[in-house]
Amino acid sequence: MKHTKLMSAFFGLTLAGTIAASAQAEEMAQYSIVDDSIPASLTGKAGDAANGKKVVINRKKGNCLACHVMPIPEEQFHGKTGPDLAGVAQRLDEATLRMRIVDPKVINHGTMMPSFYKTDQHRVLKKFQGKTILSAQEVEDVVAYLMTLN
Ligand code: HEC
Repeated sequence: MKHTKLMSAFFGLTLAGTIAASAQAEEMAQYSIVDDSIPASLTGKAGDAANGKKVVINRKKGNCLACHVMPIPEEQFHGKTGPDLAGVAQRLDEATLRMRIVDPKVINHGTMMPSFYKTDQHRVLKKFQGKTILSAQEVEDVVAYLMTLN
């Protein structure tokens, strides 16, 4: 009786381990670059602008305010390393915005802006190695939010 319980606890743990491992190794979305832009959604789905705004503000995710002034008056301390993003959707189309978030180094090799959807960049902490800063859907959500800035 006791033995059976132990065995099921063991299998339970193994199963949990497998699920955690597969969530970590989320397969990289494939994308094609056309004229320095990425025309198609990484996930095949539209982004959620409301969630994109949260990702942009979140210091552990987009942290875009560290370098950009954005029309988010409720947040303080906007950085000025990058251009002001108010009205950015008037200047850049969706495909160009997606490229800017996924890997801005394609557009400007020397940019300070991080590549938010790339695994082979220098990541200091081991837990971040081999992982993208944002998930594919978070990239789409940020793009959807930027498209509202017009
Ligand atoms: C470490 C600083 C830094 C961070 C963090 C950063 N950026 Fe940038 N960004 C820049 C710089 C600098 C540029 C200017 C263009 C260049 O360097 O290629 C730029 C350019 C841009 C542009 C093009 C704007 C234009 O008018 O041409 C967009 C859009 C943009 N960033 C969006 C974002 C978003 C969204 C985030 C967060 C997910 C973000 N950036 C995070 C530094 C940063």
